[in-house]
Amino acid sequence: MSLQVSGDFGPFDGRVWLNCSHQGPLPKVAVAAAHQAVEMKTAPHPMTRAALFREVPHRLRTALGRLIGVDADDVILGNSTSYGLNVLANGIRWRDGDEVLLVAGDFPATIFPWLPLRDRGVTVRFIEPEGPYLDPAELEAQITPATRLFCTTWVHSFTGYAVDEAAITDVCKRRGVLSVLNVSQGLGHRPLNPDEVGLDAISGCGFKWLCGPYGTGFSWIRPEVRETMAPVQGYWLANLTADDLRGDFDYEIRSDLGARAYDLTCTANFLNFMPWTRSVEYLLECGLEHIRDHDLALASRLIAEIEQDRFEILSPTEGRAQTPIVVLRHHDESQNERCFEALRAADIDISLRRGALRVSPHLYNTEADINRLLELINSHGV
Ligand SMILES: Cc1ncc(COP(=O)(O)O)c(C=O)c1O
Repeated sequence: MSLQVSGDFGPFDGRVWLNCSHQGPLPKVAVAAAHQAVEMKTAPHPMTRAALFREVPHRLRTALGRLIGVDADDVILGNSTSYGLNVLANGIRWRDGDEVLLVAGDFPATIFPWLPLRDRGVTVRFIEPEGPYLDPAELEAQITPATRLFCTTWVHSFTGYAVDEAAITDVCKRRGVLSVLNVSQGLGHRPLNPDEVGLDAISGCGFKWLCGPYGTGFSWIRPEVRETMAPVQGYWLANLTADDLRGDFDYEIRSDLGARAYDLTCTANFLNFMPWTRSVEYLLECGLEHIRDHDLALASRLIAEIEQDRFEILSPTEGRAQTPIVVLRHHDESQNERCFEALRAADIDISLRRGALRVSPHLYNTEADINRLLELINSHGV
């Protein structure tokens, strides 16, 4: 294994956490930052320093900008995947008859933000893929002159399949359609530079593969697209500082806010953003390529060793579409819930999704964790 970082996490109460697709645990450095934030709120005198309200979001933006290779000033801070997609849905200046294309069966967070647009004269239409995944050619065939935007999930929660972001973007670009990806289940184990790929926007959460607290997220919108968008809110601390309150101030909305105009309010969200910043900085220190190799090696070990006469592997097992999300289904479908419960009773945490077992290791997991799971679910165990 290329990474030896399990000591930087936990303790996990003696359990094996193979469920990053649900929640990524905080590394110890982030736990320390969370303690610091709690101390600051226990005795709040440090919070009277107005610059702190700029420094906390600035440091997070910087780390996230490095993560995806974009300018920190173009990062929009939020609390979820849904936040960033809602910013787009509410900010894009829709024309009557515009159409948003989505994929049937996609994760609900990728779908719901667009649905209220139906009340604003926008058609929301679903593509039904022929096979288990949407082929770029199917997308191309479904685009009409009314199609304004296409949104899908980069790495699918229930199948572990990674869509070909470059192929999707290429189709959208050729057809003049905005391309948007939900990167929640990918970013942290799979490097991505949305600007280089040509995407128009991404949005993701911080609490899975980015190992941040629950209630964190961010998005990036291509500046040329962002600049055409309508305001979605007015937030006093984006336009003024607490120091401005000492003297006279006016109520002018600044025209130079850029991405900050779309940040979540209370952007210096100390309790969440201080630990999340350390998590992202920590992942960067580990190296995104190393994390990808480590995670994929664990997934591949599981795939190689699982007894395939008992389990079907639903997720991709090789190539570009493979991710650390391994989805297994017992051939006797009634056994899946039993396996899940037996694993839980043996202190091994995975997810049961749509009747299948989802195993999602990340950098803190080791080969020994995978072996423990295999021992239990291969024929000698469950
Ligand atoms: C693909 C995907 N997107 C988004 C989310 C979470 O959405 P949000 O960050 O809006 O709560 C999940 C959570 O399971 C997910 O699997």
